[in-house]
Amino acid sequence: MTIISQTLDAFDDIFPTDMAPRLFQAPGRVNLIGEHTDYNAGYVLPAAIDRQIFVAATARKDSRINIYAHNFNQWDRFGIQNDLEKLSGNPCGNYFRGIVWALLQQGSELCGMDAVVSGNIPIGAGLSSSAAIEVAVGFTLLQLSGSEISLKDLALAAQKAENDFVGMRCGIMDQYIACLGQADHALLIDCRDLSYQNLPLPFEASVVIVDSGVHRGLMDMEYNSRREDCEKAARHFGVSVLRDVSMEAFRERAHAISAVVQRRAHHVISENNRTLAAADALRARDLSAFGELMIASHASLRDDFEVSCPELDRLVEMALDVEGVYGARLTGAGFGGCMVALVKKEAVDDLTETIETNYGSVAGRQASIYICRASAGVSEIEIEN
Ligand code: GLA
Repeated sequence: MTIISQTLDAFDDIFPTDMAPRLFQAPGRVNLIGEHTDYNAGYVLPAAIDRQIFVAATARKDSRINIYAHNFNQWDRFGIQNDLEKLSGNPCGNYFRGIVWALLQQGSELCGMDAVVSGNIPIGAGLSSSAAIEVAVGFTLLQLSGSEISLKDLALAAQKAENDFVGMRCGIMDQYIACLGQADHALLIDCRDLSYQNLPLPFEASVVIVDSGVHRGLMDMEYNSRREDCEKAARHFGVSVLRDVSMEAFRERAHAISAVVQRRAHHVISENNRTLAAADALRARDLSAFGELMIASHASLRDDFEVSCPELDRLVEMALDVEGVYGARLTGAGFGGCMVALVKKEAVDDLTETIETNYGSVAGRQASIYICRASAGVSEIEIEN
């Protein structure tokens, strides 16, 4: 049974009603390059992936929201109101409540709904399942309510939910690509003004994601502390965001800050430059150049930003030993999670085999491998009867 029919069947079992539900999806994402740059108003180059969150839902006449999270076998029920309470022990519930809260703050008029949420994005693996939940539930509610906002504003509401309701100070990348992703393309996003360009991914290469199986509990704390380091560095250079510090200015004036903060700033400034260069390489279809930039990005995340871990470093090394792999790096916030590799189509089997054979023995863990296709952002799915 496909995940779509499972979601619809679950809806029928749980909410016996004559009204047929509508079905919506929002994708997870993989970031090809441009890591920890979004909250520095810099550049990112992610793609939406063919792993999604699905919502089957009907509108209610009152202002109650009843959501069943199928993967967790967990309910959340609440009324639409401005002072929504945060839950403990129900992380999914806080994403549902957070997006409702943020849409209300933006002035959207929302109806109640009955909904089943399910998905096949690995949870906690750094592929942005939480952004996909916020965007999918927000889009569903807006559609059922007949309220219109732009996809950009939906992404901003989802980021606000995560920042101010859930308490994770993420940038805009994940929510933005979940809204605006395009099939077979990566998006170069300027996180200062939210302008973007769709760049076609070359047919002759595959994007391979490998989940290291390391899922760290303290991720949010570490992430927020990296963000504070960047803010400290920006203050030192007299700007509000590191985007505005050039490599030349960094070289002239970095000596006066602590070594740690210097390294953080060096990562962000060099990563912004790499991301723009990677976009140029993609436009020129120069995959070797693109791969080299991915490799340099990983080294910078490992040594300067210090968000890698031994398992991810090993995965990257293993991948780079395979003939036909252009480049590989950790993707997402780091501290565990996934590696992404850009690979010649003919080399995908070799890469898969190498990792399946060797990763368990060096890391004592099981890696999960996804060959992914760049996919479209949030949408309604027509249900065939
Ligand atoms: C997480 C955040 C993003 C971004 C990445 C790191 O995925 O949600 O906003 O900062 O980490 O690039």
